[in-house]
Amino acid sequence: MKSNFFSVLFICLLLVLGCTNDSESDLLVIDDPETDNPIDDDDGVEATVTFTEDIQPIIASNCLGCHSNPPRNGAPFALVTFDQVRSRSSAVLRTVSLQTGEPSAMPPSGRIPQASINLIEQWIDEGLAE
Ligand code: HEC
Repeated sequence: MKSNFFSVLFICLLLVLGCTNDSESDLLVIDDPETDNPIDDDDGVEATVTFTEDIQPIIASNCLGCHSNPPRNGAPFALVTFDQVRSRSSAVLRTVSLQTGEPSAMPPSGRIPQASINLIEQWIDEGLAE
Protein backbone atom coordinates (compact mmCIF):
# COMPACT_ATOMS: atom_id res chain seq x y z
CA MET A 1 0.00 0.00 0.00
CA LYS A 2 2.70 2.45 0.96
CA SER A 3 4.65 1.92 -2.25
CA ASN A 4 1.47 2.44 -4.29
CA PHE A 5 1.06 5.81 -2.68
CA PHE A 6 4.57 6.82 -3.66
CA SER A 7 4.05 5.57 -7.21
CA VAL A 8 0.98 7.77 -7.58
CA LEU A 9 2.89 10.72 -6.13
CA PHE A 10 5.70 10.14 -8.58
CA ILE A 11 3.36 9.95 -11.58
CA CYS A 12 1.68 13.20 -10.49
CA LEU A 13 5.08 14.83 -10.32
CA LEU A 14 5.91 13.65 -13.82
CA LEU A 15 2.61 15.02 -15.12
CA VAL A 16 3.26 18.39 -13.54
CA LEU A 17 6.77 18.52 -14.98
CA GLY A 18 5.48 17.47 -18.39
CA CYS A 19 2.90 20.25 -18.42
CA THR A 20 5.48 22.82 -17.39
CA ASN A 21 7.69 21.88 -20.31
CA ASP A 22 4.79 22.02 -22.75
CA SER A 23 3.78 25.52 -21.83
CA GLU A 24 7.36 26.74 -22.08
CA SER A 25 7.77 25.52 -25.63
CA ASP A 26 4.34 26.95 -26.55
CA LEU A 27 5.49 30.31 -25.28
CA LEU A 28 8.61 30.08 -27.38
CA VAL A 29 6.61 29.68 -30.56
CA ILE A 30 4.36 32.60 -29.66
CA ASP A 31 7.36 34.75 -28.80
CA ASP A 32 9.15 34.01 -32.06
CA PRO A 33 9.83 37.46 -33.52
CA GLU A 34 10.55 36.03 -36.96
CA THR A 35 7.15 34.51 -37.55
CA ASP A 36 4.66 36.97 -36.14
CA ASN A 37 6.16 40.33 -35.37
CA PRO A 38 6.40 42.46 -38.50
CA ILE A 39 6.21 45.60 -36.33
CA ASP A 40 9.97 45.42 -35.79
CA ASP A 41 10.46 46.13 -39.47
CA ASP A 42 8.81 49.57 -39.36
CA ASP A 43 12.13 51.37 -39.21
CA GLY A 44 13.54 49.28 -42.04
CA VAL A 45 15.99 47.60 -39.65
CA GLU A 46 15.57 43.84 -39.17
CA ALA A 47 15.64 42.74 -35.54
CA THR A 48 18.86 40.85 -34.88
CA VAL A 49 18.61 37.44 -33.24
CA THR A 50 20.50 37.54 -29.93
CA PHE A 51 21.60 34.85 -27.49
CA THR A 52 19.91 36.48 -24.50
CA GLU A 53 16.58 37.30 -26.14
CA ASP A 54 16.09 34.38 -28.51
CA ILE A 55 18.55 31.51 -28.14
CA GLN A 56 19.03 31.15 -24.38
CA PRO A 57 15.28 30.50 -23.78
CA ILE A 58 15.31 27.72 -26.41
CA ILE A 59 18.37 26.10 -24.82
CA ALA A 60 16.96 26.54 -21.30
CA SER A 61 13.72 24.71 -22.00
CA ASN A 62 15.11 21.98 -24.26
CA CYS A 63 18.74 21.29 -23.37
CA LEU A 64 19.62 22.24 -19.80
CA GLY A 65 18.01 19.14 -18.32
CA CYS A 66 21.22 17.42 -19.43
CA HIS A 67 23.67 20.08 -20.69
CA SER A 68 23.75 21.81 -17.31
CA ASN A 69 26.91 22.64 -15.40
CA PRO A 70 27.99 20.03 -14.46
CA PRO A 71 26.31 18.10 -17.31
CA ARG A 72 23.86 15.29 -16.44
CA ASN A 73 22.51 12.10 -18.02
CA GLY A 74 25.67 11.47 -20.03
CA ALA A 75 25.73 14.81 -21.83
CA PRO A 76 29.37 15.55 -22.75
CA PHE A 77 29.43 19.31 -22.03
CA ALA A 78 27.47 22.25 -20.60
CA LEU A 79 25.44 24.66 -22.74
CA VAL A 80 24.81 27.22 -20.02
CA THR A 81 26.77 30.35 -20.86
CA PHE A 82 26.88 32.48 -24.01
CA ASP A 83 30.48 31.36 -24.67
CA GLN A 84 29.63 27.66 -24.23
CA VAL A 85 26.76 27.84 -26.70
CA ARG A 86 28.57 30.12 -29.14
CA SER A 87 31.65 27.88 -29.30
CA ARG A 88 29.42 24.87 -30.12
CA SER A 89 26.89 26.70 -32.26
CA SER A 90 27.41 24.66 -35.42
CA ALA A 91 27.13 21.34 -33.51
CA VAL A 92 23.99 22.70 -31.83
CA LEU A 93 22.39 23.54 -35.18
CA ARG A 94 23.45 20.22 -36.69
CA THR A 95 22.09 18.08 -33.85
CA VAL A 96 18.74 19.91 -33.48
CA SER A 97 18.22 19.60 -37.25
CA LEU A 98 18.50 15.80 -37.19
CA GLN A 99 15.34 13.69 -37.25
CA THR A 100 14.22 12.16 -33.93
CA GLY A 101 15.92 8.80 -33.40
CA GLU A 102 18.96 9.53 -35.56
CA PRO A 103 22.25 9.22 -33.64
CA SER A 104 22.95 12.45 -31.67
CA ALA A 105 19.58 14.03 -32.55
CA MET A 106 18.99 16.68 -29.83
CA PRO A 107 17.08 16.71 -27.64
CA PRO A 108 16.87 12.90 -27.77
CA SER A 109 13.16 12.98 -26.83
CA GLY A 110 12.06 14.74 -30.03
CA ARG A 111 12.70 17.68 -32.32
CA ILE A 112 12.18 21.26 -31.15
CA PRO A 113 9.78 23.41 -33.26
CA GLN A 114 11.05 24.33 -36.73
CA ALA A 115 10.67 28.04 -35.84
CA SER A 116 13.22 27.54 -33.05
CA ILE A 117 15.62 25.72 -35.38
CA ASN A 118 15.27 28.60 -37.87
CA LEU A 119 16.11 31.10 -35.12
CA ILE A 120 19.31 29.22 -34.24
CA GLU A 121 20.29 29.14 -37.92
CA GLN A 122 19.61 32.86 -38.28
CA TRP A 123 21.58 33.61 -35.10
CA ILE A 124 24.61 31.86 -36.61
CA ASP A 125 24.15 33.52 -40.02
CA GLU A 126 23.95 36.95 -38.39
CA GLY A 127 27.19 36.45 -36.47
CA LEU A 128 26.25 35.03 -33.01
CA ALA A 129 25.17 38.24 -31.26
CA GLU A 130 25.03 38.16 -27.46
C1 HEC B 1 18.11 13.83 -22.14
C2 HEC B 1 19.40 14.47 -22.09
C3 HEC B 1 19.78 15.44 -23.18
C4 HEC B 1 19.09 16.54 -23.61
C5 HEC B 1 17.76 17.09 -23.13
C6 HEC B 1 19.92 17.15 -24.64
N1 HEC B 1 21.05 16.44 -24.81
FE1 HEC B 1 22.56 16.85 -26.09
N2 HEC B 1 23.54 15.16 -25.55
C7 HEC B 1 23.09 14.25 -24.62
C8 HEC B 1 23.98 13.10 -24.60
C9 HEC B 1 23.82 11.90 -23.69
C10 HEC B 1 24.96 13.35 -25.56
C11 HEC B 1 26.15 12.44 -25.95
C12 HEC B 1 25.71 11.27 -26.80
C13 HEC B 1 25.27 11.69 -28.16
O1 HEC B 1 25.98 12.42 -28.85
O2 HEC B 1 24.15 11.28 -28.57
C14 HEC B 1 24.66 14.64 -26.14
C15 HEC B 1 25.42 15.23 -27.12
C16 HEC B 1 25.18 16.49 -27.65
C17 HEC B 1 26.00 17.14 -28.64
C18 HEC B 1 27.26 16.59 -29.27
C19 HEC B 1 26.84 15.59 -30.32
C20 HEC B 1 27.81 15.50 -31.47
O3 HEC B 1 27.65 14.55 -32.25
O4 HEC B 1 28.66 16.39 -31.60
C21 HEC B 1 25.44 18.35 -28.91
C22 HEC B 1 25.93 19.43 -29.86
C23 HEC B 1 24.23 18.45 -28.11
N3 HEC B 1 24.12 17.30 -27.36
C24 HEC B 1 23.38 19.50 -28.11
C25 HEC B 1 22.14 19.52 -27.47
C26 HEC B 1 21.17 20.57 -27.62
C27 HEC B 1 21.36 21.80 -28.48
C28 HEC B 1 20.10 20.22 -26.87
C29 HEC B 1 18.79 20.96 -26.75
C30 HEC B 1 18.15 21.35 -27.97
C31 HEC B 1 20.40 18.96 -26.21
N4 HEC B 1 21.65 18.56 -26.61
C32 HEC B 1 19.56 18.30 -25.33
C33 HEC B 1 21.99 14.39 -23.81
C34 HEC B 1 21.01 15.37 -23.95
